Amino acid sequence: MNGSIIVAGSGITLGQMTMETQNYIKTADVVYYVLTDIVTESWVTENARIAHSMKEYYEEGVGRIHTYIKMANTVLDAARQGHNVCALFYGHPGIFVTPSHEIVRIARAEGIPARMLAGVSAEDCLVADFGFDPGKTGCAAYEATQLLAYPKKLDTAAWLIIWQPEATGDVAYTKNRQYAQKVQILRDYLLKFYLPDTKAAVYEANTYSIGAPKIEWKMIKDLCDFELSGISTLVIPPATKAEMDLENVYALGIPEVVSNRHTSDYSTESEAAEWNTP
Ligand SMILES: C[S@@+](CC[C@H](N)C(=O)[O-])C[C@H]1O[C@@H](n2cnc3c(N)ncnc32)[C@H](O)[C@@H]1O
Repeated sequence: MNGSIIVAGSGITLGQMTMETQNYIKTADVVYYVLTDIVTESWVTENARIAHSMKEYYEEGVGRIHTYIKMANTVLDAARQGHNVCALFYGHPGIFVTPSHEIVRIARAEGIPARMLAGVSAEDCLVADFGFDPGKTGCAAYEATQLLAYPKKLDTAAWLIIWQPEATGDVAYTKNRQYAQKVQILRDYLLKFYLPDTKAAVYEANTYSIGAPKIEWKMIKDLCDFELSGISTLVIPPATKAEMDLENVYALGIPEVVSNRHTSDYSTESEAAEWNTP
């Protein structure tokens, strides 16, 4: 008889792990995990009945896709053998995590009960640490390689979040990546939309409950000088002011937006001024 699968996220710090996820870790027959901090890993190994790390599945020079397939098969095989499995990934398990979605998709196709639980992602921490509301100006998020392979028209009036800049163009796992050359391609792409002296930050949420995040600023033209790691995310605050569409505003019957300017127009202006004044 088949078992079941819960795909869960541990958050970025141990303190962000939900009670629901803690409970599944404690009651699962086996927990398979990919974690980046030792405090969470210790908690998991102490509280799970059986816990196995899958981080070691990454192999130098091996295409990431092969590693993801191996992770998914490990979890699925345990459930096929009748175990109740918890697959645990750091952050939110469904955000920039390929095997997690595959596990749920394949399990359901095979009639194995599978569910994904939400977790606290790096982007959630980023919003709190930078102190902005993505609802005010809008916020776009892309994975670095995806953005270059499938270029988008970037909106400079909204926040821009670029995930995995350190792994730009890196489809096979490499421990000590030489990313500078590839980040140059990213910089040149950004310069099609932004002025060279627009500020960009490299952000690393602290993976421990105490301590400050790392937020380092440079101009986009100097993007290649950033020191990046596997937990770096690139952030570009609004650099221009959004244009108001008066036709839409009047069609919506909200002309007061024009007079007292208390929607995204004013916030775009102030945020652009706050973050991106020379
Ligand atoms: C494979 S994705 C995993 C994301 C994770 N599932 C989440 O919800 O945050 C790895 C990327 O997430 C971002 N990331 C992971 N940890 C981070 C941290 N502590 N601070 C900022 N960004 C982080 C980086 O862009 C990194 O390259």
